[in-house]
Amino acid sequence: MNTLDAIKLRHSTRGFSDRQISKEDLDAILFAGGQAAVGGADFKSMKIFAVQDPEVIKAIDESSAKSRPGSHPLYGAPTLIVLASKDSILKNIEFTNAGCVLQNMMIAATDLGIDSIYLWMSMYGINNDPELMERLGFPEGFTCVGTVALGYAAKEFPKPRADEQRIEVIYI
Ligand SMILES: Cc1cc2nc3c(=O)[nH]c(=O)nc-3n(C[C@H](O)[C@H](O)[C@H](O)COP(=O)(O)O)c2cc1C
Repeated sequence: MNTLDAIKLRHSTRGFSDRQISKEDLDAILFAGGQAAVGGADFKSMKIFAVQDPEVIKAIDESSAKSRPGSHPLYGAPTLIVLASKDSILKNIEFTNAGCVLQNMMIAATDLGIDSIYLWMSMYGINNDPELMERLGFPEGFTCVGTVALGYAAKEFPKPRADEQRIEVIYI
């Protein structure tokens, strides 16, 4: 797929089927994440956790739903990419790095016909639950800085977005 088409086709999916993505596709998506721009090339400040264990996914979903009991902040996704970071060599750059890494993964997923959503809620769910952080195997000093859910939409997405700029641009 053309890169610009993949960028335009990417959209947030809020309802996934049980169908798991293949290991081959998962690895291609993880590789794309590792190719992202990272401030100061401080790749060692981050770790990517590829979560597919249904018990762990359920625990993250439950922990993330504490502020809205009964909700499913992971939307039934069978795969959750959890990006963890420690303090980088560049102050306060961690969330910017996360955006670059996770966006690369979502674009790669779109290219492979896989649906995705960037999730902030599950980041809170993980960081507010020290037991869960230990279960994931976060090393000392690492916290979650972003997550992306992956899978296949339960229902077909209505239609691609209109061809329009969504952020105001000022030409100078
Ligand atoms: C950093 C970040 C965090 C987000 N967290 C959530 C979230 O926790 N739950 C959710 O349903 N959507 C979340 N989203 C998805 C946005 O709501 C979505 O990207 C936005 O509505 C634009 O829609 P689109 O992704 O389909 O283009 C998040 C997006 C970003 C970039």
